[in-house]
Amino acid sequence: MFKNSSITRRRFVYMGVSGLAGATAVAVGKDSYQMYQSQALDNLKRDFKVVGQTPLKKRATAKGLIYGAASGRDFLVSDKNLKTSIVRECGILVPENELKWDAVRPAPDKFDFTRADWLAQFARTHNMLFRGHTLVWYMQLPNWFKEVVNRQNAEKFLVEHITTVTKRYAGRMHSWDVVNEAIEPDDGQKAGLRKSPWLQFLGPDYIELAYRVAAQADPKAMLVYNENALEYSGRKEEVKRTAVLKLLERLKSRGTPIHALGIQSHLVAQEGALNAKKLRTFLSDVASLGLKILITELDVSDQKLPSDPAVRDRIVASVYEDYLSVVLDEKAVIAVLNWGLSDRHTWLSTFTPRSDGAPVRPLPLDSSFKPKLAWNAMARAFDQARKR
Ligand code: XIL
Repeated sequence: MFKNSSITRRRFVYMGVSGLAGATAVAVGKDSYQMYQSQALDNLKRDFKVVGQTPLKKRATAKGLIYGAASGRDFLVSDKNLKTSIVRECGILVPENELKWDAVRPAPDKFDFTRADWLAQFARTHNMLFRGHTLVWYMQLPNWFKEVVNRQNAEKFLVEHITTVTKRYAGRMHSWDVVNEAIEPDDGQKAGLRKSPWLQFLGPDYIELAYRVAAQADPKAMLVYNENALEYSGRKEEVKRTAVLKLLERLKSRGTPIHALGIQSHLVAQEGALNAKKLRTFLSDVASLGLKILITELDVSDQKLPSDPAVRDRIVASVYEDYLSVVLDEKAVIAVLNWGLSDRHTWLSTFTPRSDGAPVRPLPLDSSFKPKLAWNAMARAFDQARKR
């Protein structure tokens, strides 16, 4: 991988930037980022070796896990390499945007499923499971939403939307992100709820209502609560995890048909404040509520890493392997999905671009669809996972 001399040079550069702490198996605490970096760069025993080229979906299946990715329809139509790679690697597909409100509701009284149907058909043709994202969110609402939806009619819109969309795919959906990102303690609302239009119009019970309506329309789908920023252990994330646990506890205690927590897992290589013990405890707390757990949107931002792609890939791969080895230790974790599969098509190109203009490298395949160390890291994590 690296020649020793180049490691030394790179390490020197890092020391200049941040100072180096000792390496540990999984970084914990204040200096964790530096530990991650030194671990990834210095520990040459960490070779990310993988036996064979068996696709990720097969390695996952061997452990009773499901592996897949998100993709947009247009990328799959226009990019043969993406198509081939998704079909080879993935056992489950999730539309990146095609099932969001702004995609399926061009007008208040109109639904358009053309693009979502295309993806559903693609999944079916290629023997993949299909999952839905997302029915209730505060973002990607159509332009007309603000003018049309209000306190009086919000419940009608919510119920009609969930019923129509879930019915269309009933019996064919592996799982639905029924509610996405409903917790944001910084918004200062009761129970840490996000100040979304849904909360403002309907109060906190909109969440329970959403699950009940979805369960009625599609009794077979696994109903998921999906949330971001739960992975690390800064003060903010700790508060958020507690609020999410309380929400899940409350939903379960009221007999709400909710079956799983989706942990988005948009990881950030430059912060890495992963506290394995705390994350592990959170996962088992969720599991003890009788819920499954899905890793729904995994990627690792390399926005703040140095420019050398080989260095970035090594650090990103370390983050993948360290994170997955912690989460897959929890048997309630049943699925892992990347948010995209190849660096050629990733939302992070626009959401967290690098200041040096170099393309970001957050996913398992590079922009020419070749497996990177991150792919090896995922393969290793699956190979080492306990069987479900
Ligand atoms: C992102 C898509 O990838 C982008 O194409 C779109 O412009 C914005 O949304 N959390 C979520 C996803 O739940 O829906 C988001 O997807 C990424 C963050």
